[in-house]
Amino acid sequence: MQEQHELYENARKRIKQKKRLYLHFIIFLVGSVFLIILNKVLKLGETYAENWFVWAIMLWLFFWVLHFVNVFITNKFMGKDWERIQTEKLVTKQEKRIEKIKKNLEREEQFIAESEFFNEQEKKKIETKQTLTLIAAIGSNNALGKDNDLIWHLPADLQHFKNSTSGHHIIMGRNTFESIGKALPNRTNVIITRNPNYSVENCIIVNTLEDAIKIAENDNNPFIVGGAQIYNQAINLVDKLIITEVHKDFEADTFFPKIDKSIWKEVNRQNFKADEKNKYDYSFVTYLKN
Ligand SMILES: NC(=O)c1ccc[n+]([C@@H]2O[C@H](COP(=O)([O-])OP(=O)(O)OC[C@H]3O[C@@H](n4cnc5c(N)ncnc54)[C@H](OP(=O)(O)O)[C@@H]3O)[C@@H](O)[C@H]2O)c1
Repeated sequence: MQEQHELYENARKRIKQKKRLYLHFIIFLVGSVFLIILNKVLKLGETYAENWFVWAIMLWLFFWVLHFVNVFITNKFMGKDWERIQTEKLVTKQEKRIEKIKKNLEREEQFIAESEFFNEQEKKKIETKQTLTLIAAIGSNNALGKDNDLIWHLPADLQHFKNSTSGHHIIMGRNTFESIGKALPNRTNVIITRNPNYSVENCIIVNTLEDAIKIAENDNNPFIVGGAQIYNQAINLVDKLIITEVHKDFEADTFFPKIDKSIWKEVNRQNFKADEKNKYDYSFVTYLKN
């Protein structure tokens, strides 16, 4: 309704303006004839300028043109309504821009909150990150043991094993435990067996490899310590390999699985020569997943 009323008011104003312009034109024509008569017939003011009516008509024409411009151009495009429409357009544009900025701000705030959340999660993950490590000593032909015992005697390797595993969980198969014969001190000994009645003093007994890993979930670095059956099942689950390479082929009945170099990257190696205590050349090698 209001829009219709505005349209009507506008149209009325325009008609009035055009009528006035038309009237002005008629007065201009009549006035011009009158000026010509004054100048040419009645010779009025001829002593000052001969054809002064031309200048008078030109001046009037100039004012009429101004009037015309005001009605058809200035008033049409730059009248109050035009100003109001432009202002409204500008206000709408600004409002849209403010809305966009607000949305961007909200998005940025959300992004910052999410980033903080993920950073916090990442930090927590790093803090609680567990490295499951497999530790083994293997011959050049991947030999592990024979007749449920180790094949070589390398005190340096035993010390290396002790240094690496002390304070942590050591997860082993029942055969390996029986080969050692007792729970190793300063470590949580976890034995895997399918026998539900198996029991040993100072050791945790579990019936699956998964249960063994779960038992050690609060340890940031539990170790899988063998033997062959357990290594074979765990090598794809662990994050790190600590391997003692004993540089000789040995006769054996249990072997370490092949280390897939497309999965495992050697990150550290220390080479040692045989000495009076350690009969064979050996190397301590660390692998991490590629
Ligand atoms: N060179 C080294 O670094 C190193 C390290 C460790 C051991 N070794 C050698 O490795 C040899 C022993 O290895 P191994 O392969 O014969 O035996 P192992 O892996 O030590 O133990 C095998 C036993 O673990 C239990 N087991 C295996 N997988 C299981 C599963 N998924 N669920 C439940 N129980 C499971 C079974 O016990 P049950 O039969 O009771 O069910 C199985 O008989 C010995 O010669 C030892 O000296 C060498």
